[in-house]
Amino acid sequence: MNKAGIIWFSQTGNSYVCAQRLKRRLLEQQFELIDDFVLSDMQVDFNSLTHLFFVFPVYNFKMPCYLRDYIEALSCFDQKVKVYAIITAGGMEANTAWILDGLLKKKKAQLDDYLVVYCEDSYIPLRKFLGTKKQKNKPDESSFLKIDQFLFENVLHGKLKNKIRFNPLNPFHWLGHLAPPTGPKQFLGKRSFVKERCVDCSICYNICPAGAIVKENDDIKYNDQLCIGCCSCFNGCPTDAWQSPWYSSKHYYHSPFLKEMLKGRQSGLSE
Ligand SMILES: Cc1cc2nc3c(=O)[nH]c(=O)nc-3n(C[C@H](O)[C@H](O)[C@H](O)COP(=O)(O)O)c2cc1C
Ligand code: SF4
Ligand code: SF4
Repeated sequence: MNKAGIIWFSQTGNSYVCAQRLKRRLLEQQFELIDDFVLSDMQVDFNSLTHLFFVFPVYNFKMPCYLRDYIEALSCFDQKVKVYAIITAGGMEANTAWILDGLLKKKKAQLDDYLVVYCEDSYIPLRKFLGTKKQKNKPDESSFLKIDQFLFENVLHGKLKNKIRFNPLNPFHWLGHLAPPTGPKQFLGKRSFVKERCVDCSICYNICPAGAIVKENDDIKYNDQLCIGCCSCFNGCPTDAWQSPWYSSKHYYHSPFLKEMLKGRQSGLSE
């Protein structure tokens, strides 16, 4: 019996819907399945798995710090598990797969293959200055078909397509390498919260992965020390209550998958 684990991280929902698609297809293939959102408290027994999938976005030309911490905290793998990644990116994944492979090797595992799914970019600075417009409205059905194909051809029939290698000539790798581990928050500039605009939809304090936004006694409080600049509050707020000096609402990516993902974060990858 095949048993797969899907370990996922997602902030605006792109990786979430990709993980959801993967889950549906694995269930159709009679896989037994467990899934875990990286910031949940669940304990996964990795040695009971035959296949392990990481589904996550590229952040600052590398993997999000939460996924890195998650893997670093794992014990070493006792037996061979096939490991795959589905990486969502706005257009510049740099050497992210290689970075993941390096982390896994420290745990006596390795990345067998990976797929990059190009998606609408949720990072305001990159959207404004680099404008990855090609990926507009993605992930879409064509992205999901790529996941199906990856699963059937590469994972189930062993057709290896992507070499996991380090490209030292990729300038973005070095940019990501130099960025602070929690991300270049300074690109957002000094932010403000326009209380009058807030309709208390609860998205920002539910989505913030860093605990930088909390609701206390009917007030929304923001702690700049904790913020990692992931932009999720900007992306998620329906009324533009979060403001930055350099970015206005036209730079925001309001993901159609966000609300669905917030539900999924509370209860695994529920349909
Ligand atoms: C903080 C942050 C940093 C990002 N850095 C990169 C990057 O270096 N390269 C890239 O291609 N996309 C980058 N993106 C875009 C995301 O990888 C892309 O939007 C992804 O699909 C978001 O996935 P999610 O909706 O699952 O969070 C970044 C997004 C954020 C929020
Ligand atoms: S407060 Fe900072 S860490 Fe929290 S969601 Fe907003 S940008 Fe991300
Ligand atoms: S996301 Fe915007 S509207 Fe919703 S609670 Fe936060 S600030 Fe208020």
